[in-house]
Amino acid sequence: MRWTHAAGRGLLAAAVVLAGYVGLGTPSGESVAHAGGRGPVTLVTAGDLTDYLDPVLADWNRSHPDEKATLVELPESADETRAQLVTGLRSGSDRFDVLNIDVTWTSEFAAAGWISPVDPDRFPLDDLLPPVLDTATFGGRLYAVPYVTNAGMLYYRSDVLEAEGERPPRTWAELERLAKEVAPEYGLGGYAGQFLPYEGLTANATEVVRSAGGSLLVDEGAKVTADSSGTEEGLRFLVDGVREGWIPKESLSWKEEESREAFQDGRLLFLRNWPYVYAMAGGADSKVAGRFDAVPLPGPDGPGVSVLGGSNLAVNSNSRHPETAADLIAYLTGESVQRRVLTEGSLPPVRASLYSDPELVRDFPYLPTLRESVLAAEPRPKSPRYDQVSLVVQAVVHDAMAGRQSPRRAVERLARELGAIARED
Ligand code: GLC
Repeated sequence: MRWTHAAGRGLLAAAVVLAGYVGLGTPSGESVAHAGGRGPVTLVTAGDLTDYLDPVLADWNRSHPDEKATLVELPESADETRAQLVTGLRSGSDRFDVLNIDVTWTSEFAAAGWISPVDPDRFPLDDLLPPVLDTATFGGRLYAVPYVTNAGMLYYRSDVLEAEGERPPRTWAELERLAKEVAPEYGLGGYAGQFLPYEGLTANATEVVRSAGGSLLVDEGAKVTADSSGTEEGLRFLVDGVREGWIPKESLSWKEEESREAFQDGRLLFLRNWPYVYAMAGGADSKVAGRFDAVPLPGPDGPGVSVLGGSNLAVNSNSRHPETAADLIAYLTGESVQRRVLTEGSLPPVRASLYSDPELVRDFPYLPTLRESVLAAEPRPKSPRYDQVSLVVQAVVHDAMAGRQSPRRAVERLARELGAIARED
């Protein structure tokens, strides 16, 4: 029932975008200059951890000998990838044609004019999971095509919980108790996520804040709402964890991969991470293969909130071959590559129908949990200055977790510093 309603909302959103696009036409100075351009293109992406993109592009290249696509991989961290892309885009570089950009950057790239609006008619938008389309729009127009989605999940050691006769936690109190009391008995750290100051920490912090009913910014960045009891309660969960020792101190320097390795090496009872971990921790070189599972993130009194992650494909507004770039995006977002995104890339596809495909559900038993998490996931704040918003959140939350600032002071500082960014707009 819920699924049907949600799908309906997605179609409505698509219709709104379509209307906006048709009504406004192509804005001056954007893709017009290179209209009709065909030829070789470059796809730039953050690190392809599962190496599935090379064969996907090889298939494209076989059928497009005059429009070959070359893959360029940038560093695996979200922030470093953004920094490298922005340096080129600011100087008008046409080195990259198709940009695989984190969902959180779409507004900033669109507002800066670095990516061109795309024609919604050219892409399969009607089978998208409902929340993802919104991440690709800015100012009512479609600037990118959703490609991969993502939602945080709670990984847990099923062997340990079963031995203890415990169920996976559904609330923070249950998680805390197990992390505090059970984990040490097995020589395990309690709970970790991505707590180094970078985009991953912004994602983790936004999740605890939203789970506790707080928020940071609303109205596309115009209004700051950080100084609230919900925001403070969310931060307190992370801060208490480090102070009380059930969040290991070393996790303050972990990104996705370091935290995955800790879990996979059998050093953690609980881990918050993205779905790609499911396949890797189940692999032959994992010490916890067959001994873990995942559930939706817990919150203060029941299920928590995940942020919506993932990436969108956009065309560089200086691309010399925008027509080929758009065709490549249609190929990558089409049914057959979307299936490979899951089966070979271990990443969550954006197409809704794949989540109920019986064969895929059999091979990827976490798909129903993932679908539930994505459907309930909330976007990070949309802002044309998202990069600055995120830097503030990372710095403040990291200081609080390291014990340098109380949760109350952290919330006041967030309100002050986010307020300064909002006022500059
Ligand atoms: C994942 C998510 C992305 C997020 C990043 C943070 O790649 O898909 O949206 O920003 O992690 O590290």
